[in-house]
Amino acid sequence: MKSSLALAVGVSALLASGAALAQQPQLPAPELANNVCMSCHGPEGRSVSPIFPRLAGQQKAYLVAQLQAFRNHTRSDPLAQAYMWGMASQLSDSGIDELASYYSAQQPVAGTAGDPKLMAAGKKIYTDGIPAEKVPACSSCHGVDAQGVGAFPRLGGQHPEYLLAQLERFKSGERSNAPIMLGVVHNMTTDQFKAAAAYAASK
Ligand code: HEC
Ligand code: HEC
Repeated sequence: MKSSLALAVGVSALLASGAALAQQPQLPAPELANNVCMSCHGPEGRSVSPIFPRLAGQQKAYLVAQLQAFRNHTRSDPLAQAYMWGMASQLSDSGIDELASYYSAQQPVAGTAGDPKLMAAGKKIYTDGIPAEKVPACSSCHGVDAQGVGAFPRLGGQHPEYLLAQLERFKSGERSNAPIMLGVVHNMTTDQFKAAAAYAASK
């Protein structure tokens, strides 16, 4: 079985051979997910390490857009380049569609609340925005329960550290293919990022 491939090899080998591994458009999405993607994103997309975003229950349209953005190199922050460009390079449109369907159908991880002060600060930003800084309410796009919709990603149940890293990258311009989020984070501070990320992830 081709599927014995991925589990046995380490992450660095996976990286080196990412293109080759993904170069199997005939492999059904669940098998590709369970043999290749799982090494980083965890079983059914419920990863343990915050470097690797959880994919379980993520919005399908968002997943499709991200895989296309890795494939066409428009999502180009260093980790995207190092980990995901190779993975996505050989995926066909239908392969992307199937993987996105697979992951969006999985049960998302239930979020857990952290430090109460941080949660309270985060809830305020998430639900009201920061009017004085022209920061819109996160809930207006990501949903009151942070479940997302369509091209607006789910944030609930994600690793807060991953969300924080993305907010920093939108602001630094490293993840530059997301004009809406660049506008949102423009005037925000790291402390505000931490609070909003912690609250959103806890949903
Ligand atoms: C060797 C590790 C590794 C493997 C294997 C891997 N990924 Fe990733 N993936 C990452 C990392 C790291 C990121 C975060 C990139 C960043 O921070 O920009 C990521 C990000 C993503 C994202 C964006 C998620 C979001 O919330 O924006 C999607 C979608 C994704 N991967 C799908 C896949 C699929 C599908 C596969 C299997 C074909 C796969 N990945 C295999 C490491 C990996
Ligand atoms: C006007 C709509 C809108 C608002 C308001 C908004 N977002 Fe977003 N957000 C988006 C879109 C669209 C994306 C996907 C960007 C892309 O395609 O790469 C996104 C992506 C993200 C991501 C990356 C998720 C991932 O899996 O990589 C984070 C984190 C995020 N938003 C947090 C926030 C926070 C926190 C707020 C409030 C301060 C907020 N967003 C407000 C539309 C919005």
